[in-house]
Amino acid sequence: MIPFDPAEKKAALRMLSNGLFVLTARSGDTIAASTISWTTQCSFVPPLVAMALRKDSKAHTLFEQSGNCALHPLALEQVAMAKAFFTHDLEIDDRSINGFRYEIGPRNLPIFDEVAACLILEKRAVTDVGGDHVLAVAEVVGARCSERKPALTVEASPWEYGG
Ligand SMILES: Cc1cc2nc3c(=O)[nH]c(=O)nc-3n(C[C@H](O)[C@H](O)[C@H](O)COP(=O)(O)O)c2cc1C
Repeated sequence: MIPFDPAEKKAALRMLSNGLFVLTARSGDTIAASTISWTTQCSFVPPLVAMALRKDSKAHTLFEQSGNCALHPLALEQVAMAKAFFTHDLEIDDRSINGFRYEIGPRNLPIFDEVAACLILEKRAVTDVGGDHVLAVAEVVGARCSERKPALTVEASPWEYGG
């Protein structure tokens, strides 16, 4: 039998590989921009992505309300951008969010200028699986990748999320 040691549980879970992404969502004039990590592709046809979103997050609320979000995979050198969106407090004007320039893209979503790639996602299912995050599954309905860059992962970052 494998014993259940809390420290080993935490360490083992932190060996799950995750990238870092900035998710933007919008409902009316309200905008969320949030760095998330628990994200993975979960179907080829149709192309589906699964994300775990904190129940208390603005990103989750606006994604539920609008049925859309944009997911920006971060490149290895974009640690500062990841750090800028751990907070709930955003400084938004019509050109930038927390200092990062954006344009309004498909579905009225803010799309950041300085990212190499972006996925436009449409809600397919949001399930409360009994934890502190909901499991959100969304279909890729738009995508852009100007350059394939090495991805920023949680492991390569100064932070931990998981355990
Ligand atoms: C390294 C790291 C990874 C994170 N990953 C997630 C995640 O996968 N899902 C999530 O909902 N929040 C995640 N968070 C927390 C969000 O960044 C934070 O709750 C969010 O930005 C709050 O903003 P909001 O309420 O405006 O959405 C993570 C935080 C850190 C530090």
